[in-house]
This record gives sequence, structure tokens and C-alpha cells, in this order.
Amino acid sequence: MIEFKNSENLNKWSKAQREKHLKIGFVPTMGALHEGHISLIEAAKTENDLVICSIFVNPTQFNEQEDFDKYPITIEKDKDLLFQAGCHVVFIPDVANIYPSSTAFDLEIDLGNIANVLEGAHRPGHFEGVMQVVKRLLEIVEPNVLYLGKKDYQQYLILKKMVSFYQFDIEVKQCPIVREPDGLAMSSRNLRLKPVERNAAVQLSKALFAIQSDQFSSSPKALSEKFTANLNANPLIDVEYLEIVSAESLGKIDDWKDSESAVACIAAKVGSIRLIDNVTIY
Ligand code: PAF
Repeated sequence: MIEFKNSENLNKWSKAQREKHLKIGFVPTMGALHEGHISLIEAAKTENDLVICSIFVNPTQFNEQEDFDKYPITIEKDKDLLFQAGCHVVFIPDVANIYPSSTAFDLEIDLGNIANVLEGAHRPGHFEGVMQVVKRLLEIVEPNVLYLGKKDYQQYLILKKMVSFYQFDIEVKQCPIVREPDGLAMSSRNLRLKPVERNAAVQLSKALFAIQSDQFSSSPKALSEKFTANLNANPLIDVEYLEIVSAESLGKIDDWKDSESAVACIAAKVGSIRLIDNVTIY
């Protein structure tokens, strides 16, 4: 596995591979890798000649300094996991390399509703930061295919729109959520849960799966209110939102018959750790 720290060197290398008509799959991450990330590497490996993974904890997408300061960093373990998974290149830049003072970022893109709801409403500036870093990474890596996980469902919709807005010749693929055996969605933040919080955290996915199987028993609003109240009854859980939305527009669904698709999305603090998850209802 080749390791790059410098964006110009990686860009040169990547251009050379594309000139040889080699297809490049790209998996951007913030490190603290788990099986969810590795599933993206594996998907990229089967569909491309080369796989590049970036590890960069992007400061501009954190709306809380403490969340950024405490973001888990496990670089050596990450490199081992990537090597074992057969990743060809790991890119580990520093902040100055990703954001040299010459890199301007004008957000000319209007994403409409999809950026203003759910995470957009609760984490001001988060998606601007995500778009800023992913645009920059795509310009450096110049991949053929970008791989994203479904756990960050809204991020996937936004980045797909961004790629098309800037007319990048890049296919955006979404891979399924990887879960722990009890159903908790894998997340780098799970590493920060205390044992008692880890036990409580599974209630989030349980609620989403219950909504999935109870669907149509009541209105979307009644279901989300019922499960929000159930979750909040646990003193370790504080639900920020639990919404049933259209899978395309992310608009809230008032009546099941109003939408051709539905996803239940949740964000909740378990102890002090903020987790997100989602389940497709139909
Ligand atoms: O999903 C993530 O880990 C991050 O938002 C991403 C896409 C790597 C950008 O920093």
C-alpha cells in the first residue's frame, strides 16, 4: 500500500494511473475505521483497478469544537486494516495541505430542502464543510467512482448533487449500513461510548426497525412521536430528531400515501455522544 501525505504528489500519481486507463475507486474517511469503512473498500476493490482511501478529520465540518477535539484517531490501526483489505493507496494529508490559503471555496450551489433539514437543521455549517472537503479531495484524487455509506444518508444525497453541480465525471455509489450483531449501526463515534451507553445505544436502531415493521399502523407523525417518547424515557438518550421523510426530497411525510419512498432517520445523544442512523421503510 502506498502512502501519500502530499496532495500534489497524489494528484500526479492518480493522473498517471488514469492515463493508463486504470479505474480508480475512492473512499473518503475521517479514520477510526471499522467494518463499515472496510465494506466500502471491498466494494471499491471489486469494481475498480485501484482503491484510494483518504484519512482526514476535517475541521470545517464540525459544528462543535469538543466533538472535533475528541474525534477518535487510530492511524496505525487504520493503516493495518486498509492494508489487510487490499487498499492500494492511503492519503493522509494535514490541514495545510488540504486547505492552503490559496484554496477559495465559494458555495455557489443551492441544495434546497435537502440541506436544510435533519442534520442540516441541527448542525449549522456541517454540510458546507463536508462539501468543501469532498470537493477538494475529488480534485486531488480524480477518481472514477466515489463510495459513500448509507449511514450518512443525507450526506450521500448532498454529495451526489454536488458532484453533478460541478460536473465532475465521477459516479457516486452508496453502500449499505454495516451493523453490530445487536443492530447498532457501526460508527467511529461508537468507540467513545461507555459500556452503559453502548447498551443504551442499541435502542436507536431497535426503534427504527420497529417503525419499519409497524409502518401503516399509525401515521408517520404518530410513529415518530411514539418512538421519540419511548427513547427519551431512557435517561441516557436524548433524541434530537426522529423523522420519517421522503428518500428523495427528505421532506417530512404526513401521510404514507403522499410519498413513493420513506426513510426513518434519527439523531440522538447517548450520554454525550451524538449518533445517527436510518432505515428505509419502503
Ligand atoms: O462521512 C465522513 O466520514 C465524512 O463526512 C467525509 C465524507 C469523509 C468528509 O470528511
